[in-house]
Amino acid sequence: MNFQLTEEQLAVQAAAREFAQNELLPGVIERDEHQKFPAEQIRKMGELGFMGMMVDPKYNGGGMDTISYVLAMEEISKIDASASVAMSVNNSLVCWGLEKYGSEEQKQKYLTRLATGEIIGAFCLSEPEAGSDATSQQTTAEDMGDYYLLNGTKNWITNGSTASVYLVIAQTHPEKGHRGINALIVERGAEGFVVGAKENKLGIRGSDTHSLMFTDVKVPKENRIGEDGFGFKFAMSTLAGGRIGIAAQALGIASGAFELALKYSKERKAFGVEIAKHQAIQFKLAEMATNIEAARLLCQQAAYDKDVHQDYGKSGAMAKLFASKVAMDTTIEAVQVHGGYGFVKEYHVERLMRDAKITQIYEGTSEIQKIVISRELLK
Ligand code: CAA
Ligand code: FAD
Repeated sequence: MNFQLTEEQLAVQAAAREFAQNELLPGVIERDEHQKFPAEQIRKMGELGFMGMMVDPKYNGGGMDTISYVLAMEEISKIDASASVAMSVNNSLVCWGLEKYGSEEQKQKYLTRLATGEIIGAFCLSEPEAGSDATSQQTTAEDMGDYYLLNGTKNWITNGSTASVYLVIAQTHPEKGHRGINALIVERGAEGFVVGAKENKLGIRGSDTHSLMFTDVKVPKENRIGEDGFGFKFAMSTLAGGRIGIAAQALGIASGAFELALKYSKERKAFGVEIAKHQAIQFKLAEMATNIEAARLLCQQAAYDKDVHQDYGKSGAMAKLFASKVAMDTTIEAVQVHGGYGFVKEYHVERLMRDAKITQIYEGTSEIQKIVISRELLK
């Protein structure tokens, strides 16, 4: 693996950093407070090419590698993890899933607009009774000949009320278990499709999380992704790459908190000196920086594996498992370095601490990442 970033990768990193500072930082505290989705900012991210970074230019994407995507995710997440989860779902779940497994018609119809951010997408696997245990799908897609009849409820769907395109996982042949599941493209506004209330969350409060209800929604057969019964493999394969995006999100939250703690430690005085002169603070900074560097290397390793078409299931799960723990540990310590000021909103670190927690839960909890990793080890 080459540790030297290319000119192009450095340019993507710089553009994402500049965008985050200029466009995401202003208003981030208010958006968190009022649970406001960063719609205008996401639109601009689309214009800058951040919503379909890895998609082939022939479908209007950026044609970039996964390393560039990880670099951009880190920079955006340093400032606004609510914006970065919308970016991550659109890039690595919706666009990637459609580009890899969709038909040419589906790509022309949906991917070309998702890749520019003109519209955004949602990935709908979780249900009230099927989270980690994702094969226990209760949502049904009954085969009616030339269409599927979709019934059921999806929970916790990111971009739930703002998406135009929803990739919905549902059971068609219960007798076949996970091999009877399908992935369907459902358009917003389909008759019988209702978006539930927005969840009132601990963190990533600007992110748009909703339950979705489907009652006798007719989904044309041509909206099925892949062969009949491919839906669960579609979800697992797509999530393997999605986890690299969330690992990079966790890395960004950690490095954002570290940068704030480092700066503050050189400004705040206690006992006549800057707190950075106290060894207890120096050791916290040393530990944070070391963990962040290790998390960054794991993220880049997983991204590299994906770029060179090596298996990235294990390395992506390792990156997510480790980076999400680093995000949690680092943000807690960043609040500590800020003392009482860390406990109030103006200093940003309390938000980063709240945002960090979700990275240990979604796209597979930390326990699920350990299952994925240990199964690979024991294969
Ligand atoms: N690629 C392709 N197929 C895969 C796969 C992969 N990476 N991993 C598993 N599969 C296939 C298996 O081969 C198997 O198929 P066959 O029997 O035909 O070979 C099938 O999937 C079932 O696999 P398992 O027997 O391993 O299934 P399991 O019930 O033991 O569960 C699990 C495995 C890893 C725990 C899985 O259920 C899982 O990942 N759970 C977590 C769900 C999750 O991550 N949800 C995230 C929702 S999206 C989200 O959260 C977005 C967001 O926040 C922003
Ligand atoms: P459960 O599966 O009930 O788990 C509860 C606890 O038990 C966890 O600690 C878990 O690790 C543990 N556990 C479960 N099984 C095992 C086991 N076999 N071994 C050890 N421990 C186990 N889903 C989507 O499909 N699309 C989205 O866009 C999306 N966005 C989300 C956004 C937010 C803000 C949130 C909170 C969730 C989102 N999710 C989304 C759902 C998310 O992926 C699930 O919450 C997650 O997979 C866990 O499922 P669960 O909440 O049902 O927890």
